[in-house]
Amino acid sequence: MIKQAIIPLAGLGTRLLPLTSVFAKELLPINGKPGIEYIIDECIDAGIKEIIFIISKKKVMIKNYFYNDKLFKKIIKKKKDKRISNEFRKILKYKKMIKFVYQNNPRGTGDAVLKTRKFIKDKYFLMLLPDDLIIKKNCSKSMISVHKKYKSSVMASMNVNKNNVSRWGIYNVKKKINNQNFIINDVVEKPSVKNAPSNKAVIGRYILPKIIFNKLLKQKSGKDGEIHITDAIQSLIKNNQKFIGHSFSGKYLDCGTMDGYIKSSLEIAKT
Ligand code: G1P
Repeated sequence: MIKQAIIPLAGLGTRLLPLTSVFAKELLPINGKPGIEYIIDECIDAGIKEIIFIISKKKVMIKNYFYNDKLFKKIIKKKKDKRISNEFRKILKYKKMIKFVYQNNPRGTGDAVLKTRKFIKDKYFLMLLPDDLIIKKNCSKSMISVHKKYKSSVMASMNVNKNNVSRWGIYNVKKKINNQNFIINDVVEKPSVKNAPSNKAVIGRYILPKIIFNKLLKQKSGKDGEIHITDAIQSLIKNNQKFIGHSFSGKYLDCGTMDGYIKSSLEIAKT
């Protein structure tokens, strides 16, 4: 069973400036609710019991959001507002399952994952990238089913426009299992259009094996000087670890870019 999830939250959110100049992007509202709550709800619905938030000193606002009990208690005492009581109850429920670790110098997704090493208990864990919202169908839940069936690591995937491949991690297929699941041969972080092995992109949901920490401990920085989780995954694949690309059926919203962020509220309002 997959019981633990990790969420890297130390990124500076430069693609969303100026909204992120004093504010954590994951707390920005999407249709009236902070983006991070959609991600937590997806985890809870997928059976996750503990979530590890990787934040930084600069993003401590995220921790404060979940630890603002005094304010809520004071207000609830003064006026009996049912909506506020319900919201407070929800935040307390979230708080119970969240642990915080720090990545004060954001050096890439792989480096963020490494900060959780001492806390991961089981053989596999889930990672969600908060920029990527997937609505209408719980992607993590589907991936956990795939993991159970094939006893392997899984990454969410989507076909993208060939001209945009350098925005994503891109993989090619070793073997097609069925229309939704593919055994991965190679994965490359943000390749050029010319060097891309396909147009199959990795989207921000990963079921990773605990042994990835051994790779990350030794890993040198890759593209743009960052430690990429994609490079550690490629290295595991070359050691015969099975990774499945799962083509999810929900709707993907890229909240990490301004255009995508604006559209995401409109899309969610329609559901
Ligand atoms: C990260 C990963 C990339 C993946 C993408 C999905 O990139 O490094 O491989 O395709 O998430 O959203 P980022 O969005 O942090 O630039």
